[in-house]
Parts: sequence; C-alpha cells; structure tokens
Amino acid sequence: MEQGGKFLELYKSPSIVLGRWVLLSLYLPWLLENLRFQTERWAMTQVEPKKRVFSGIQPTGKIHLGNYLGALKHWVENQSQFDNIFCIVDLHAITIPETVKPDEFKRKILEVAALFIACGIDSKQSAIFTQSHISAHAELTWLLNCVTPIGWIERMTQYKSKADRLTTVSAGLLDYPVLQAADILLYKADRVPVGEDQKQHVELTRDIAQRFHSLFGEVFVIPEPMIWSSGARIMGLDDPTIKMSKSLGEQRKGHSIGLTEPPETIRESILRAVTDSGNEVRFAHGSAGVRNLLEIFEVISGKTREEIESHFHGKGYNFLKREVADQVIAALQPIQDQYSRIMADPGHLQQILREGADRVRPMAEETLRRVKRSMGLV
Ligand code: TYM
Repeated sequence: MEQGGKFLELYKSPSIVLGRWVLLSLYLPWLLENLRFQTERWAMTQVEPKKRVFSGIQPTGKIHLGNYLGALKHWVENQSQFDNIFCIVDLHAITIPETVKPDEFKRKILEVAALFIACGIDSKQSAIFTQSHISAHAELTWLLNCVTPIGWIERMTQYKSKADRLTTVSAGLLDYPVLQAADILLYKADRVPVGEDQKQHVELTRDIAQRFHSLFGEVFVIPEPMIWSSGARIMGLDDPTIKMSKSLGEQRKGHSIGLTEPPETIRESILRAVTDSGNEVRFAHGSAGVRNLLEIFEVISGKTREEIESHFHGKGYNFLKREVADQVIAALQPIQDQYSRIMADPGHLQQILREGADRVRPMAEETLRRVKRSMGLV
C-alpha cells in the first residue's frame, strides 16, 4: 500500500511528467506515420478486381483488316485494364461442314494464335486458348439450348444471311449463337469487345442468361458488348455495301486486306477500291466506299475527323487511296515481322495454347457445375 503511494508520487513528479511528454512527442509522429502506412496498405488491397473480357475469332478464311480494326486492335490497346480471355473458336468454324478442310485446320488455329501475339496480345497477361480444348463449351451449349426459345435463334441476321446462301443448313449453324453464349457465360465475362456484326449475338447471350436466371436462379454475369464508334464495321473494298468478310476475302481478289498480305497486294487492293465519280473527301458527304477508306485512315492514324478532312481537302480520291495504303502498310509491317518470327516455332505456340486452356479450364468447370446444380443435375 505504502509502496503504491510512493510509486504514484514518483509518477507525478515534474521530471517524470516532462520525460513522458518528451517520449510521447518523439513517438507520436512515428505512430501517426505508421498508421497512415497501414491505412494505405489496407486501401490498396480493397481496389476493385479488374473486369473480365472475353472475345474470340474463328480460325477460318483470311483474317483481315476488319477483324483487326473492329476487334484485335482494341483487345491489345485495352489489355492492361482488364482480365482477358481470348479464344480461337474452332467449334464455330465447323458449322458449314462443306468448307472444313481437316488437313489445314491445325495450321489455321496456329496462324490465328500467332496473329494474336503478333498484334500485341501478351500470353502472360491474357489467356489464349482453343475452344475445343475445353469440353465445358459444348456441354454448357446443350444446357443453354434447352432454355433458348428456337424463335430467338431463327431471328439472328447472321444465321439468316448465311442460311440463305446454302442448300443444306446444319443444326450447328442455327445453334451457333448459343455456343457463343456458352463461351461468354462460362467465364463470367463482364465485357465482350467485338465488331458491330456480333452485337446481336451478345444481346442474345444476355437474353439467354436472364431467361436461365428466371427459371433456375442467378448463376451468370450479364455481359455487355464493347463496340467502338469507328472501325466496328469495315466494308469490302470491292463492294462497300457489304461487310469485309473472311470467306469473301479468300474468294475475291481485292475484297479484303489480309493481315499477312505483302505490301504490293495491299496497295493494289486499296488503289482499286470502289469509290464514286466525285472527288469530295468528307465523312458526311462521301459515298460508302470513300467513308470506308476515311474510317480506315481514322482508326489507324488516330487523328480526329476534322484533322483528316482538312488534310484531304481538295486532294481527290487518288491521294486519299495512296495515303490510306501507306498507313495500312506501315501499321501491318511490324505485325507481319512478328508473325513470321512466331510462326517459325509452332511448338511454342502449341504450348501457349495448352497453358492458356489450363489456366481458364477451372473457371469454366466451376460455372458448369453451378449451372448443373441449379438445374438439379448433380
Ligand atoms: P469472326 O471470327 O467473324 O470475327 C472476329 C472479330 O472481328 C470482328 N469483325 C469485324 N469488325 C469490323 N469490320 C468487319 N468487317 C469485321 N468482320 C469481323 C467481329 O465482330 C469479331 O469481333 N462469332 C464470332 C466469334 C465468337 C465470339 C465468341 C466473339 C465466338 N464466340 C464469344 C465474342 C465472344 C465471329 O464469328 O467472329
């Protein structure tokens, strides 16, 4: 008791009080600094995870400038902002079986993988894989088929225009957009960067996911299409009323610009591009062919429409075509150099595709399990 009193006296003595204040004033800044550091560290761990992107390209025909300007270029430019999955959709490429060339398929898949990388997709940052290597795509397609009203897929414009040209239409061609929905939904993709022709398929994906939710409960993320205002619909050079297409690019000289075509061929196709009999180089007043060339120039050069119109003012179509050809050739040159280098090592490409599939397979299998569970299948 007496000892406690002495201690209290000592504790209150002026020299000890002063000492305590000195210690506290030395310790306080360190304490505050430490607190700020810990708070910042905590805040950093609370950063929102990156949104997931999923997109794909069919390994058919000649991969062209439209595929690059409408899709691939944007995948590359936005790569670091997102968690990316890029797929070579070989199961989509067999829906018109008369066009399938089994001996060429494997090479075509490697060519597309090489183009992804040559355009700037980094396989460490983004998963690149072949659709048929993950069986969950085909399996989820069946489950989604059962919730998709047939009228929804019969209405798809791409199906109607392809079916119109065929004598025999496969069930796979009609079902094509359901397989595309399975691709997107398996990975819970938030965004789907595509050209304008794929907008309807992404909207159908949303409808299918919502119908599934209303029947069996929430499983999927509802994806949004990402479509850029320029370059999303590059038209055929020989006929600017139709979209530049891979299959027509193989059949008609001068229709498209293949990403691996030699500079002389690219120049020739652009110089022969259909325009009109006028000479006014403007976005608003030009014909479809002139607008198409201007749009190609716009996306590649990154210049504004005003800058472009003043650059071409009073110069005529020949000058426009020569300038577009120069731009396209210069933009494709580094891609072509990389492409040749990458294609020289097919073993490495196959390894990239295997690793990509191994990386994303667990996500696909998990979604498939959840879908089956919601439907009462497991
Ligand atoms: P595909 O292989 O026809 O085309 C690949 C990408 O290129 C875009 N594109 C164009 N963009 C601008 N101008 C053009 N002329 C042009 N032609 C094609 C396409 O819009 C696409 O973004 N069904 C898809 C592949 C697919 C897919 C997916 C895409 C399968 N599953 C899931 C996204 C998500 C197709 O046939 O793309």
